[in-house]
Amino acid sequence: MFELTAPVSGPEPVANLTDPQGRRLEYLRLAVTDRCNLRCRYCMPAEGVASVGHDAVLRFEEMIRLAGILCGHGINRIRITGGEPLVRKGVVGLIENLAALPEQPEVLLTTNGLLLAPHLPALAQAGVRRINLSLDSLDPANWERITRRGGHAKVLQAIDDVLAAGLGLKLNVVVLPGVNDHELVDFAALTRERKMTVRFIEAMGFDGSGQPVRTLGGDEIVGRLASAYELLAVPRHAGAVADTFRISGHVGQVGVIRGHSRTFCGDCSRLRVDTQGRLRTCLYGVPAVDLRAMVRAGASDDDLLAAIRGAVGRRHPDGHAAAAVRLDSMANIGG
Ligand code: 5AD
Ligand code: SF4
Repeated sequence: MFELTAPVSGPEPVANLTDPQGRRLEYLRLAVTDRCNLRCRYCMPAEGVASVGHDAVLRFEEMIRLAGILCGHGINRIRITGGEPLVRKGVVGLIENLAALPEQPEVLLTTNGLLLAPHLPALAQAGVRRINLSLDSLDPANWERITRRGGHAKVLQAIDDVLAAGLGLKLNVVVLPGVNDHELVDFAALTRERKMTVRFIEAMGFDGSGQPVRTLGGDEIVGRLASAYELLAVPRHAGAVADTFRISGHVGQVGVIRGHSRTFCGDCSRLRVDTQGRLRTCLYGVPAVDLRAMVRAGASDDDLLAAIRGAVGRRHPDGHAAAAVRLDSMANIGG
């Protein structure tokens, strides 16, 4: 005989993920590979980071399963990041599967643009509507100095390809004092005729070296832009990390991300799953739960959800409180 345990009125409502500060977790950043075709100085040493072994990296089926559990509990946006996501074979298929989850999360991509052109139609087809492109210099020689590789023209081309495809575009510029900070106004000038947002990011200490980082503060960045342009603040929406401005006469916008100062933690809505399947509740913190180990040991969805809830329940109030003694490379955590 069956015992009827579920209420006849239907399943109990499931509580979404909320941390002790009352912040709702709605955004997942999923790092699909630590490998990259560039070697940006602020991200990794010249020889690259010790690559995570093939078996250590989360498989696509495992990612889809974890994303399914998270989307069932309030995650509504998934950003595919890395390393460089497009160096991993099959990433477009992964995106299709994520976009097709019952909750239909918005799926976004962050890329350095080198491999974007051939993938763009399939990405759009898979449901990607917005792309973040990393580009730290408009000058080819300076870009090569920063990335230690070639291909600058391809990234410039990617800007116009993304716009021509009708996708939303944000250009991420990590501001490196003495290296590219003389280019701020040139970058902002791109928004005169292009409907995109150029976001200047304070450099953070995620190059894998353990050395302190040289950074230019957000206020200084805004000050330099304000000396060249009339900036009009755009109201910040919940969970946004950037302070965004319109520039009088420009169709695009500029923004500043105070990633080093960490002034936006108060309404941070992000969770991260790193390349090795570890859940991170803060970019600056140590991994909170090894989901890969649990998945491979046969954990049920309920077990995984309980572990995720536990991690969210221990979430630090901000990135200063969370900060690990030694920060990992961004390529492993997922930018
Ligand atoms: N500081 C700031 N931003 C970084 N990114 C990678 N490493 C760092 C760092 N040390 C950025 C990349 C990319 C995004 C994924 O993270 O430039 O735009
Ligand atoms: Fe690659 Fe991005 Fe790191 Fe540059 S910042 S080396 S593009 S993962």
